[in-house]
Amino acid sequence: MFQHMLVCKYVLFLQALGCADESCTQDPPTGLQEGPKRIAIQETAAIHAALAADGAVILTGISGVSVADGTWEAKAAALPSLTFPGRLVSKIPKVQGIHLEHAHLRQNLTSSPFDLVGKPLLPHTDGYIYGEFLPDYIAFVVESQSDSGGQNYVVDGKRVLRRLCDGDRDDSDESETCAMAAMAQTLAVDQTERSPPGFVNGQEFRGPLVQRQRHAMHRLRFHRQTSVLACKDAADTVDENGRLGTDLRPYQSLWALSEPEGHQAHKVQDMLKTVDAAVQQEAAQAYRFTVHEGEALLIDNYRMLHGREGYKGRTERKLWRVWFWTNESSGIPRGMPELGSVLDADELNQI
Ligand SMILES: *[C@@H]1O[C@H](CO)[C@@H](O)[C@H](O)[C@H]1NC(C)=O
Ligand SMILES: *[C@@H]1O[C@H](CO)[C@@H](O)[C@H](O)[C@H]1NC(C)=O
Repeated sequence: MFQHMLVCKYVLFLQALGCADESCTQDPPTGLQEGPKRIAIQETAAIHAALAADGAVILTGISGVSVADGTWEAKAAALPSLTFPGRLVSKIPKVQGIHLEHAHLRQNLTSSPFDLVGKPLLPHTDGYIYGEFLPDYIAFVVESQSDSGGQNYVVDGKRVLRRLCDGDRDDSDESETCAMAAMAQTLAVDQTERSPPGFVNGQEFRGPLVQRQRHAMHRLRFHRQTSVLACKDAADTVDENGRLGTDLRPYQSLWALSEPEGHQAHKVQDMLKTVDAAVQQEAAQAYRFTVHEGEALLIDNYRMLHGREGYKGRTERKLWRVWFWTNESSGIPRGMPELGSVLDADELNQI
């Protein structure tokens, strides 16, 4: 109900209309119909049930997390061991203030002709620069939210695959796109982030777009990063409410052919385009939701892609992002400095 009211507020804000119940329920989005569930951070079992079902959950009560110095950064750092006790392989969670990262971007991307801060984000997975070893879970702790905009959305990798195989498509042959979904799960393509058109140069990684973890119940693992050009489009095409426009370039991913001259090159290129288009369609339909101060959005970064609308206003939007790796991930990236945290040491020994 609370969530419902918030949606109404958003509709109200957007359309300057009264919120008849209808305006909130019409055109129900598919997938997570009302966004991720809200669950108190202490409710570990419920959190895991929601993650298994939906791939994302909103944690409440983060302000009450007790840490020595009381900072939001420290609360964010405590989140992995509170939610995944005894299951972390990354002992020192990587916490980054997104607002601080923006300062870095402003200073260091001066040659860039556009300013992405506050502009919409297209659906992607985080930690893509680590190649195969991206963090399997990520969280965004909200210290302060923007005055307007900034709604998040998540795209379920399972739904992307289903979309390719369901019969509702009128733009192409379903059995053909379904064969592409199969190809996306078997054929190795180049997923290395390279700048340009990526933002930075990441670890080399070739593999299927969608993989199944051998352990961990064949957990689905999806990687997607978008090109700088697609992000620029997203920044340029926002509507009057700061929302992502629809007029984006047809191919947004950084996925590339492993063998550009290979005999299958044409087919592979078609597959990449088709899967990319399916991701875009899912993103356009995905339910938008707001994560409030003192809450955190926790996402299965293997199964789900995430993005958000643009935001604006005077209040500084302060989010702390946490990347972490559990025992059901492919492992931590090479060169991660330290493992081991007092919080988790005992539980780790029990694994
Ligand atoms: C810009 O990049 C340099 C080199 O990585 C870094 O030392 C500096 O702190 C960055 N600027 C900001 C504002 O973060
Ligand atoms: C990860 O750890 C949990 C808790 O100890 C355990 O139940 C699960 O089986 C482990 N998963 C793998 C893939 O080892």
